Amino acid sequence: MPIQFTDVNKSYMSGEVPVHALKDVSFHIPDESIVVILGPSGSGKSTLMNVAGGIDQPDTGRIEINKHHLDVLNTRQLTDFRRRFAGFIFQQYNLIPTLTVKENVEVGRELSDHPLAMDDILEKVGMLDKQDKFPYQLSGGEQQRTAIARAVIKNPAFLLCDEPTGALDEATGKQILALLKYVNEQHKTTVMIITHNIGIGDMAHKVLKMKSGEIIETLEHAEPLDPKRVSWT
Ligand SMILES: Nc1ncnc2c1ncn2[C@@H]1O[C@H](COP(=O)(O)OP(=O)(O)O)[C@@H](O)[C@H]1O
Ligand SMILES: [Mg+2]
Repeated sequence: MPIQFTDVNKSYMSGEVPVHALKDVSFHIPDESIVVILGPSGSGKSTLMNVAGGIDQPDTGRIEINKHHLDVLNTRQLTDFRRRFAGFIFQQYNLIPTLTVKENVEVGRELSDHPLAMDDILEKVGMLDKQDKFPYQLSGGEQQRTAIARAVIKNPAFLLCDEPTGALDEATGKQILALLKYVNEQHKTTVMIITHNIGIGDMAHKVLKMKSGEIIETLEHAEPLDPKRVSWT
């Protein structure tokens, strides 16, 4: 899914004071890309992901995702867009506590009419042997990997990931990044990764650096690095 943002603005009220979370943000992401969003805390990364995925709407500006003009869709149409095209990995894992790992991932599978295979995805996130455990029996990293499996198994055209490796050590984090690259290549998925980890930018086709709600730098990599070789900070 190609992505086009044109002069996108989004403000929140923080008490009496408006916070300008996105300021005239414009960029283009070609179809089938991996895009990495870098920037300090509070720079607008999650807000950008939320409006790109149709979770939230901009105040002004245009957002076009593969011919879908998200900025003019109503709530019901946005829900339909998310259901059909988008998969999310949130910073909070939002697992259902009464369901096992496999049952949580099954929730993602049932949302799709062209899902990936359960055992393959559980294996790729390293949770095959823990599939019958409940979230309270898992470490933070295992919960994150379960949430990642739930998003990936849906096989969405557009996969949006907010700090997907935040709770993971280097080896597990790189395993997850390799999975994201795999779905990008094998299933033509456009993958958006928000991260604090600057080295991860090297695996992207495009890097957007944000500061105070603005994109301050854009990088392109003709030959992105293999995730196993990115430097980890
Ligand atoms: N729902 C909200 N209500 C009020 N302020 C918000 C809300 N969401 C984000 N903000 C503010 O918008 C700015 C950008 O936030 P965010 O997009 O979460 O940044 P990042 O993900 O880069 O840390 C911050 O100043 C944050 O406090
Ligand atoms: Mg954030």
